[in-house]
Amino acid sequence: MSKRVAVLTSGGDAPGMNACIRGVILTCEQRGYTLFGYKHGYNGLLQQEYIPLYSSNTHNLNQQGGTILHSARCLEFKETESAILAAKNLKALEIDTLIVIGGDGSFRGATHLSHYWNGQILGLPGTIDNDISGTDATIGYYTAIDTAVSSIDKVRDTADAFERIFLVEVMGRHAGFLALSAAVASAADYVILPELFTTESEMLANICHQIEQRRKLKGTVSFIIVVAENVWPGGLNKLADSLTKRANAEVRPVILGHVQRGGSPVSQDRILANTLAHYAVNLVGEPTTNVMIGMVNGNPVEVPLSVTHTPGKPLLKSTLECMQSIMNKRYA
Ligand code: F6P
Repeated sequence: MSKRVAVLTSGGDAPGMNACIRGVILTCEQRGYTLFGYKHGYNGLLQQEYIPLYSSNTHNLNQQGGTILHSARCLEFKETESAILAAKNLKALEIDTLIVIGGDGSFRGATHLSHYWNGQILGLPGTIDNDISGTDATIGYYTAIDTAVSSIDKVRDTADAFERIFLVEVMGRHAGFLALSAAVASAADYVILPELFTTESEMLANICHQIEQRRKLKGTVSFIIVVAENVWPGGLNKLADSLTKRANAEVRPVILGHVQRGGSPVSQDRILANTLAHYAVNLVGEPTTNVMIGMVNGNPVEVPLSVTHTPGKPLLKSTLECMQSIMNKRYA
């Protein structure tokens, strides 16, 4: 029987969300399903702001950054009345399946909605932070790493020229996935991660020790420190001030910010987005509901939405060990 499906993108946009929308559109069309896209995340669901989606909407979509459906953080969606209104609107449009592309806040919203709507809900992980439990990677994560790495490579040129210390802040909300991967890939000298943070004084002492060892070996040299956002109490400028005093050096802070959310998705994100979208649409009409489709060891997996936003997804142990060895052993 022909199904009516709706898709929305919510929370921080991520490169590959458009590729994911495209995958949903094309698979729905193959199955003969009717597809609608809600605009501006859950706001569109509350305000009945939707558009029909057809394969004619997919031209050049695979490689486009951002999301053609637009995104938003909809704080009012936490309210009971909002979920009831959303359920009413979904029923009015006779939607069988809602596909939510987003991060942990979006999946919390989807779980909340599931208490008031008995249609099928499927989540697809889209966030540069990679902080979703139950999937090895999220759509947008790989592109954000590449963006951070190419920026750090450029910072290194000027850092070397002036033999300065640079602090480069990368996104990740409260998780260190992006910071750790960017640090390893850019051969940074040090990384500050929420998962490894102890105390300001201990961390400062350790960084200064590393810089001193480096100076003993090579004289004044550049030193690149990747810092996960939200980790240093008082922020990056405070760390820059403290380090300037402690290391008696010129320190420059660089906040990469939202540049990491933009750009054309790299192949890994496109493949992930298309594969997960295809898998999700194949579940339409099945009893499976309130699950996120993640990717584990190269295979799509169904993960209860309630599990996806439990904090504490571990960093990849081997990558962490590699970076720790660079930080602590190179100049020991
Ligand atoms: O969740 C994605 C993300 O880019 C985080 O890395 C960052 O902390 C946050 O969103 C920024 O949110 P906003 O775009 O609302 O400033």
